[in-house]
Amino acid sequence: MNNREHWGSKAGFILAAAGSAIGLGNIWKFPYIAGENGGAAFVFIYLICIALIGLPVLIAEIMMGRTTQRNPVGAFKKLSGKPFWVAVGSLGVIAGFVILSFYTVIAGWSIGYIVEALKGSFSQFSDPGVSSAYFESQVGNVTWIVGYHTLFSFLTMGVVFAGINKGIEKGSKIMMPVLFFLLILLVIRGVTLPGAEKGLAFLWSPDWSKISGQSVLIALGHAFFTISLGMGAMMTYGSYLSEKDHVPSAALQIVILDTFIALLAGIAIFSSVFAMGQDPAAGPGLIFHTLPVVFAKMPGGVVWAVLFFLLLTVAALTSAISLLEVVVAYFVDERKWKRQNAVMVFGFVVLLIGIPSALSFNVMKDVHFFGKTWFDNADYLASNILLPGGGFFIAIFVGWIWGFDTVLIELKKGSESLFDKYPIVIKAWKIFLRFLAPVMIFVVFLHSVDLLESVWHQIHMQWVIIIIQVAILIKLFHKKK
Ligand code: PHE
Repeated sequence: MNNREHWGSKAGFILAAAGSAIGLGNIWKFPYIAGENGGAAFVFIYLICIALIGLPVLIAEIMMGRTTQRNPVGAFKKLSGKPFWVAVGSLGVIAGFVILSFYTVIAGWSIGYIVEALKGSFSQFSDPGVSSAYFESQVGNVTWIVGYHTLFSFLTMGVVFAGINKGIEKGSKIMMPVLFFLLILLVIRGVTLPGAEKGLAFLWSPDWSKISGQSVLIALGHAFFTISLGMGAMMTYGSYLSEKDHVPSAALQIVILDTFIALLAGIAIFSSVFAMGQDPAAGPGLIFHTLPVVFAKMPGGVVWAVLFFLLLTVAALTSAISLLEVVVAYFVDERKWKRQNAVMVFGFVVLLIGIPSALSFNVMKDVHFFGKTWFDNADYLASNILLPGGGFFIAIFVGWIWGFDTVLIELKKGSESLFDKYPIVIKAWKIFLRFLAPVMIFVVFLHSVDLLESVWHQIHMQWVIIIIQVAILIKLFHKKK
């Protein structure tokens, strides 16, 4: 255990963890789901989910990793040993395989689009009809899609192969500043376009009529995905932390960075989309269908397009390495594999599992399992079942099972004083972890497996959630006296 690698500095950890959090979720998914769910009002609900549920669970997850110095399976083994909890850890490792296998496919498109932009392919795009036909023909091409999926998988393997310090930490220290810089450039470009104010208004002026129970649930589900919660990625990164680092402050910084980047991506994308008169609610195709049209209409569009897809690729890479690291850490810690061998073998396995995902856009388009393509199944399984399920059990484990006295000792390591000054913070965390997070996740879970679908339309979810939150706050302040 003594020769386990550790982050070279706290900043190294924060950049790597923020790198994991900031990914396709922020730049591809967040803008389009915000666009589909009414803009500002949705953003507001998403921020509440991040603060009240995401942050408390993130602290719990990182702490389990730091205390045990293990991957998710090893962490549950060490803290409980009960087969049930070890199985929860194993689901995290399985989620690593599943998410990575489809994540590399979308990230591959992004590399492909850098090349297309450089070739000048976007200049012919007069409207989204043309660009979506073009997108369909690209992803319909087996060599194109499998080729870029493979290329991106190799990039991911390369970084993880080099280890924690020389690979993940060093890579994140280079890539994260590049990402900030590219995004700032794109924001400046976006907001200085004539007509950009309509996009900003869309993001900042809430249209509450667009908010439904459904959008609250989408917001919570996305909060998990975007902070890489619920499958042990943050636990594994936390396992390379030492006791002198204070977990809550690190977690807060990671969440702030992740949210900040999602909002900046929203600003960059919506200001351009509105300025160019495109549809903000274009859905998952917003980036690949709508943005190329925006770039085609913009002066110097080729350069902006290359910068944008480079940004997306870098963001996806710093997330993909954290997914592969969960799998690798498991084989290194529990099965005593050499890191390099684990990376090569399982990197390759993930590459293979990803191929049917890539083929779901062409030759396997009509091959459905449980009514969905392979790609949609992988996405659904991960985002709607494995992540919320894992988050639920992590909250329950740390809130109820681990032993709260031990948890508090672990929590205070690295900075006693903060909690002595603000005991309410600990009380709030405990209540959020024990009640709010499990209840909310449970509700989302029921929804995502469609069990509540019929009852759903009869109750106003926002009120149910507001009542639960008020009840918890009352309990919190009542106890304090
Ligand atoms: N947080 C990443 C994103 O926003 C996705 C991810 C999920 C990464 C789970 C690791 C673990 O794109």
